[in-house]
Amino acid sequence: FHVDMDPNEADKGTYPFYMLKEVDEQPNVMRKLAQTYLDAAGKPEIDDKLIKAMQAADRLYIVGAGTSYHAGLIGKRLFEKLTNMPTEVHVSSEFAYEQPLLSAKPFFIFLTQSGETADSREVLSNVNEAGYPSLTITNVENSTLSREANYTLLLHAGPEIAVASTKAYTAQIALEAILAKALGEDMGLAIAKDFDVRTQLGLVANGMQAIVDEKDKLEELSNDFLMDTNRAFYIGRGIDQAVSLEAALKLKEISYVQAEGFASGELKHGTIALIEKGTPVIGIITQAKTASLTRSNLQETIARGAKTMTIVRESLANDDDDLVLPDVDELLMPLLSVVPAQLLAYYTSLNKGLDVDKPRNLAKSVTVE
Ligand code: AGP
Repeated sequence: FHVDMDPNEADKGTYPFYMLKEVDEQPNVMRKLAQTYLDAAGKPEIDDKLIKAMQAADRLYIVGAGTSYHAGLIGKRLFEKLTNMPTEVHVSSEFAYEQPLLSAKPFFIFLTQSGETADSREVLSNVNEAGYPSLTITNVENSTLSREANYTLLLHAGPEIAVASTKAYTAQIALEAILAKALGEDMGLAIAKDFDVRTQLGLVANGMQAIVDEKDKLEELSNDFLMDTNRAFYIGRGIDQAVSLEAALKLKEISYVQAEGFASGELKHGTIALIEKGTPVIGIITQAKTASLTRSNLQETIARGAKTMTIVRESLANDDDDLVLPDVDELLMPLLSVVPAQLLAYYTSLNKGLDVDKPRNLAKSVTVE
């Protein structure tokens, strides 16, 4: 089969690595998604058949691997909040061989940048055999997972070359937000009608731009915090915990720092024993109802000698915070909080002299189980 790819679009230009280019492209990817899937008034333009098929379901099952799985964890929050539809998120390699009990009318959403991940393909082939409806959200038109699902939505993020996925993660979350709004609106839910995703994605794009314009600061923080360590923690609660998993994965795969993304409230149940003098702990704080709790969990690590850094949304920030993120709708804060984490991983990898785009032992598209 033939895949359309503009070679110029995949050109590194003046960038030393694709990853940095792809991080920088994220504001434009947000704008492109808004243009593609929303009309001028901000109403979603998504195939009505897809919306009706989702509405006929009693539960959504999001399936993905790695970063795509992490984007699914944010999707769960978006779908449950904007559509009231119970939503489960599963790692594809686990689901394939230990399928959970399914609801009476499941609808499957496959998240996959490449559309070729073998673990996810295995799940889709079981889903097709059982006759359940499915949607693939992917960056690659005509990819296997796209062809084999009933519906496809494209991420329009442009080719992602670096092994570490960046713009595909944020594109997946933005498209999940648009889809959740479309579904919730069609179900007549006020919360979905009031969710102005078009304006919000505009704010997200500007906010991302402000963060990527702070590269010097992020490189400095990487030097101070992450260059001389082989382990680190990202902590947060709720949606911030989900982002902390993705933030930790970036640090692991390209910087070779053993990093853990952790529910901050769980630390005291065992893991805090690992904190010693100088252990880096990064707190992600973007949700009003849990901000003070995560702050006190950070204090508990400081009391054990941790070196801490905070990534905080503006309306919750104070003068001591290290990185302040512009305010957007709370549900979309992951689109901003992940960007400093991508850049911290990038600079740590770069300044260690590693091959940022092609980390050891990894392939861009994992086509074996
Ligand atoms: C992300 O940085 C990884 N390299 C990896 O986890 C990736 O997200 C995973 O292999 C899934 O790939 P897919 O989205 O193409 O299915």
